[in-house]
Amino acid sequence: MPTLGVNIDHVATVRQARRTDEPDPVWAAAEAQLGGAHCITFHLREDRRHIIDRDVPLLKEVVACKLNMEMAAAMEIVDIAVRTRPTQCTLVPEKREEITTEGGLDVVRMADRVGEAVRRLKDAGIIVSAFIEPVPAQIEKSAALGFDAIELWTGAYAHAKTPADREIALRTLADSVQQGIRCALEVHGGHGLTYRNVSPVAAIPGFSEFNIGHSIIARAVFVGLRKAVREMRQLLERAVMR
Ligand code: PXP
Repeated sequence: MPTLGVNIDHVATVRQARRTDEPDPVWAAAEAQLGGAHCITFHLREDRRHIIDRDVPLLKEVVACKLNMEMAAAMEIVDIAVRTRPTQCTLVPEKREEITTEGGLDVVRMADRVGEAVRRLKDAGIIVSAFIEPVPAQIEKSAALGFDAIELWTGAYAHAKTPADREIALRTLADSVQQGIRCALEVHGGHGLTYRNVSPVAAIPGFSEFNIGHSIIARAVFVGLRKAVREMRQLLERAVMR
């Protein structure tokens, strides 16, 4: 059964829109856990546009389940991760002009910088995951660089315009999951997953974790975060049982 990581950055985005102290992403972490989240995910960006330094030790303190820190392979952020010791760090690409993480990290092109970050994080006892596109060379290189896990970018599926494109994207994801498992990697998925589109991806055998943010927080505005998390968790469970 894949686990559900709830990305709480979007709560911090609302807070930072006013540079005030509410809504607090740390409260969101507590509520998401009460709704059944298996993991709390946050992204400390170099530009601190949503999660800020003050949030990091507080999240470490209040999160009783798995804590997953998304981050660029930047040494300043690696230092913070090593000090904080979340359960897992997921290395992602970061561009200042992007709205959210767009596409995967190119671990082939950035092998030297990424490899150094992986070594430092693993030495600190942190599980290390690579957010990559479902491409054979990226999966192979992630294993070679010593990652414990990969998170496959599900954007091509989520943004597909036709049923045929969606089918191709699903098949690519299914093949990539199997390649990841053959390389002894844990395989996670995320980006653009919603209540409407998550089931076919969750039904792919072999995924062990999904990280979902925008859609859950969007629903939470109307139904509350506990209920929104519970509903997404039920969708994952039902997709696997089908
Ligand atoms: N996984 C990773 C690595 C991400 O960067 C993001 C976006 O912050 C997500 C999952 C969640 O994506 P979404 O907000 O589209 O559910």
